[in-house]
Amino acid sequence: DTMAPVSMPSALKFELLGKCSVTKARAATLHLPHGPVPLPIFMPVATQASLKGLTPDQLEDQGCRLCLNNTYHLGLKPGQATLDAIGGAHKLQSWPHNILTDSGGFQMVSLLKLAQVTEEGVRFLSPHDGSPMLLTPEHSISLQNSIGSDIIMQLDDVIATTSPDAARMREAMERSVRWLDRCIAAHKYPERQNLFCIIQGGLDLELRRECTREMVARDTPGIAIGGLSGGEEKNSYCRVVDACTDLLPEGKPRYVMGVGYPEDLVVSIALGADMFDCVWPTRTARFGNAITPSGALNLRNARYATDFRPITASCTCPVCRPVSAGGLGLTRAYMYHVTAKETAGAHLLTMHNVHYQLSLMREAREAILQDAYPAFVRGFWHVVWRGEG
Ligand code: GUN
Ligand code: ZN
Repeated sequence: DTMAPVSMPSALKFELLGKCSVTKARAATLHLPHGPVPLPIFMPVATQASLKGLTPDQLEDQGCRLCLNNTYHLGLKPGQATLDAIGGAHKLQSWPHNILTDSGGFQMVSLLKLAQVTEEGVRFLSPHDGSPMLLTPEHSISLQNSIGSDIIMQLDDVIATTSPDAARMREAMERSVRWLDRCIAAHKYPERQNLFCIIQGGLDLELRRECTREMVARDTPGIAIGGLSGGEEKNSYCRVVDACTDLLPEGKPRYVMGVGYPEDLVVSIALGADMFDCVWPTRTARFGNAITPSGALNLRNARYATDFRPITASCTCPVCRPVSAGGLGLTRAYMYHVTAKETAGAHLLTMHNVHYQLSLMREAREAILQDAYPAFVRGFWHVVWRGEG
C-alpha cells in the first residue's frame, strides 16, 4: 500500500471488488459510517425524511442501505433547531442505515421559479411565508452537518443542459468550483460525514473535463456528476458521463445525480458510474405505474381489470411473491382495483418499484463480479425490446 497525500479526512472506504473487462462497469462495497453499501446502487428518495409510501422498516426489508433526503426540505421543516435537538435525520426518521443529502440549491431552482443565483448563494422566497431567504454554501453545509447525513453534497450552480447560453454555463461551472472550496472550508465533521463535489459544465465536453480536473484536485471522498437528467439527448448524456469517468480516480465512488430509468442505470454503469437517485420509481407508483423488465405498466388501464397474473411473474417483492412463498400474491387485477383508491395501491406499487430498482442493481453487481456485464446488458435490452407478453 502506498501512502496517498492526505488533504481531506474521509469517513468512507471504497472497496473495489471487480471490474468489467469490456465496459467501464465496477462492483464495489462502499463502507460508510452507518454500514456497508453494495455498489452499484440506486438510492430511493425520501424527501421529507420519509419515503412516500413505505415505512423505514419496509425500506430496510427491501435491502436499502442508503437513501436520500433533501437539505432544502429538512431545513424548512423540521428546521435546524429541531434537527440539532433530535440529533439529526437518522434519529428523526429512526433509520439505522446511511443517508445522503442533496445540498438544496438544485431543489430550489427546480421547484421555485423565483430562485435567483448570485456569487453569494441561491436567493429564494420561503414557500411558507414568502419571506426572502438565501442559501449559501456555508449555510447548506451547516444544515447538512445538523442533519448528520453520511454523505453530504456541495452547493452547486445548476443550469439546464439545454440552455443555449455558453457564457452562463461556464460561469456556473466555475462558480460550482468556488462554492466547493467554500463548502470544504465550512464543513465541521469531515471525519464522520463525506462531502462529495458535483461536476457541472453542461453538454460541453471540454468544460466538463476542465471542471472534472478542478474537482478531482480538491480530493473529496466521492464525486458526483450533476446537471444531467434534464431532458438532454441520450447520446449527449452518455458522452458527458463517459468523458467525466475517464478522468476520475478509480478508488472513489461516482454518483450520477437524478438518474433512475432502468435503461439509463444499465448504460451508466457501463460508463463507470456507481450511484444513482431519482424520484421517478416512487412518484410513478403513485400514478399507478409498475416498473417491469419490459417497461412500465399503467395498472389503471382497464385492460388489467381481469388480468390475474402478478405484476411480474419472476418478481420476488412482497406484492408479487405467491402466498405459498410468504408474499401477498396480488394480481394485476387486484392492483387495478385498488390503485384508484390512492394510499393502499400507491403503497403496494412503491414497494414493487423500489424492489425492482434495488434488484436490478444487485443483478448488475453480480454480473460485474462474474465479468459477465455485457451479457447482462444484452439480456436486459432483449427483454425490453421483446415487450410485454
Ligand atoms: N439532482 C439532479 N441533478 C443535480 C445537480 O446537478 N445538482 C444537485 N445538487 N442535485 C441534483
Ligand atoms: Zn413485485
